[in-house]
Parts: sequence; structure tokens; C-alpha cells
Amino acid sequence: MSFKYFHVLPAFLLFNIIFAQTEINYSEDSIAPYTLPNLLLLNNRKRVKKIRHWEKRKRPEILKAFENQVYGKIPEIKLNPSFTEIVEESDSALDNTTIRKQVQLVFEKHKRKLTINILLYLPKGIQSPPVFVGYNFYGNQTTTSDENVILSESWVPNKADFGIMENRATENSRGVRSHRWPIKKIINKGFGIATVYCGEIDPDRNNFEDGIHPFFYNDNQNRPNNDEWGTISAWAWGMSRVLDYLKQHKGLGNSEFISFGHSRLGKTSLWAGALDERFALIIANNSGCGGAAIFRRKIGETAAIINGKFPHWFSVNFKKYNNAEHLLPVDQHMLIALIAPRPVYISSAAEDIWADPRGEYLSGYYASPVYELYGKKGLAKPELPQLNSPIHNDIGYHIRQGKHDVTEYDWVQFMKFANKHLKN
Ligand code: GCU
Repeated sequence: MSFKYFHVLPAFLLFNIIFAQTEINYSEDSIAPYTLPNLLLLNNRKRVKKIRHWEKRKRPEILKAFENQVYGKIPEIKLNPSFTEIVEESDSALDNTTIRKQVQLVFEKHKRKLTINILLYLPKGIQSPPVFVGYNFYGNQTTTSDENVILSESWVPNKADFGIMENRATENSRGVRSHRWPIKKIINKGFGIATVYCGEIDPDRNNFEDGIHPFFYNDNQNRPNNDEWGTISAWAWGMSRVLDYLKQHKGLGNSEFISFGHSRLGKTSLWAGALDERFALIIANNSGCGGAAIFRRKIGETAAIINGKFPHWFSVNFKKYNNAEHLLPVDQHMLIALIAPRPVYISSAAEDIWADPRGEYLSGYYASPVYELYGKKGLAKPELPQLNSPIHNDIGYHIRQGKHDVTEYDWVQFMKFANKHLKN
């Protein structure tokens, strides 16, 4: 290379870095060939053929890679609530069909206090119903027009059209997201539902001095280390604390619990379900990049884009994979495989191309060999199914028409899938 190129090259690279990152690809034809990390090949090149080898060797290897390189490790120290308080309850909610409970889990450490407010609805007269457990984006009061639901007092991203101003929810925010939570229909089908505002565990902003993270810092630490938890891992931690509470709740002794989430909370649902095997069934709706979508396809949102826009969601280590997805030791089919043999449902929306529907489907398809080890049925074909033609194998999937959202169609499928695969 002649001398002059030493001057030209950095400028050219810089241009590439700035502009290549912002160029968004939506075309199947322009996907560069990629190789997924092999799900069933051990580091010593031997193939996993038995469940025992998967569980004892390959699964821990994959879990560790997700912890260290993607979402970040959750501290091992257990933190239990210092107390739990039922702040409101009724056995005649929603036209007398439902038990409503509003419960606070209060965590205290280093003079800090964090309160998780659970809004729980249970169908009356049903012993140990299956319960959907999932976060909401803007406060429990946004999920329902039930006026008895306590208004969230936590920091929340501003959204004037949702009645959220100066980072506080107002009365106008009641029910603004209720179309995503058809609570009465869910109750009528015999399910319970527990929801929490995700920002109570960690506000959705690039700040690591709030939320749950500081409870676990060493002296002089003010943000997680490179391989430690980002916000998605913090939210996954919170899902498990809600589950701790529900598990010991009277009348839920034999209940099965479903981890549910949409979009960023769908990413969380998968990660929480992978980490906490007490979740009997996992649902990820429109979870996209960092959720079910295969990173290496680089369709719609990519690692570089998500790390640029939401630098707090993943570990610091994950930034290494900006425009270098091929170096990732894992891809998202492995996240789905971590859930095996428990049933998992992935749902996409046709117009949600930012989330790469085909990439969401393919992670289920490529995870299928692990389900097959257990004698379970995954997704048989690499082709995306037709619109509104759900598959309800042990790995379930649908792509419906329409936008990035949670619709009644989605809920009908989630409940059918749960009825088919859960014991009760
Ligand atoms: C953004 C983000 C997605 C995320 C979505 C959401 O669009 O890029 O990764 O899933 O927000 O949570 O609604």
C-alpha cells in the first residue's frame, strides 16, 4: 500500500462507520451469507446427542455466553423484600368476576428503597389458575380502566398523549394501553394476570444510579462492570421476584406461571424465561432485535442501532458486536433453546419489519433440534408460515397482519397455546 493510503484509509473507515451503521436493510436478498453458532456442538467438537450432555455441558456454556457477552450477569447475591404489603384488595372486581390485589414488594439495602407494585387479577372460584406475568411500559393504571388501580408514582418517560408529563403519570393515563391487556377476556378464560411497571425495577434510561443496580454495587462502583447486567437483565431479575411472591400466594400453590412480554419487554420475557426455569411457558411478542430475531441477519434493527439508541439495555461487552455480529459466540436461536423443553411462543406482526419477523421465526426453527432431543416438536420448516396461520407445536409461532402492538388476536393465540401445553 502506498503512503498516501494511510491518510485516505482512516477517513474512508470513519465514513463507513458513521454511514454503514445508519443504513437499514429490509431486503431478504441483501442478507450477507452467515453461519450460526452450532447449537449442538461442544467446544471439544463432539456432538450433543443426549439430554444429559445438553443440560450438563452445552446449555451452561450458552447461558454463560449470554450472561457475559449479551445481557450481562445478574448478581448472585439473593435480595429478598424486607416486607410485602397488600395495599388494596377486592373480591368483587370487574363486575364481580375477579379478585383484584395490589401488592407492594419493598426492597431495602444501603439506605436505598425500591418498591415493586404488583397488580394481580385472579378469576374467582378457580383453584391454582395459570397466571400470565408481564411488565407494562407506563404504569399499572395504563393497562385497565379499572379506577381502583393505584396510579404509578414512579419516574416514567414523558408521553403527553398518554397523560404523562414531567415524568409523572396523571389520571389521564388510566387505560391508555388497555387494548393491549384484555383483562376481562383473560379472566373469563380462567387465567390470572399479574403486571408490574418495568420502570419500578429500573427506569428505562441510560442511568445506572437509579433502579435496582446500585443495591448490588461494591464501594466506589457507580455502574455495572463490562460483563454485568444492563436494564434488560434487571427487568428479568424483577420478573423472578414477582414470581417468588406469586409462588407462595394462597391459592396459587399448583399454578403454572407464564412469562409474557411485548417488544423490549418481549426480549425481557425470553431472557427471564431462559434464566428462571420456574416459568412454565414463555411468550415473546414482536420482540425483535435482542429478542427472538437472529442478529446475524441484520434486517431492520441491528446490534449497532440498538446499542446506539438504548445503550443501557445490554452489557457493555455487547457493544463489541456493533457491526461485528459474526463474532458473537451465540445467536438468538440459542436463547430459544435455553427455554427447552418448556413451551415457547414467538409472535410477529407483518408490518413490524423493524423487528424482522422472519428472523423471529427462524430462531424458533433453528432452536428446534434441542426440543427434538426431548421428544418435543419445534418448527419444521424454514419458510415463514402464512399470515394468521398459527403453529402451536412446543415451539409456537404466528405472524398476524398489522403493526407492532399486542392485539386481541395475539391474546387468543397465547391462551390457546397455554391451554394446549399447560397441565391445568
Ligand atoms: C424500539 C426499539 C425496539 C423495541 C421497541 C419497543 O423500537 O428499537 O428494539 O423492541 O422500541 O420496545 O417498543
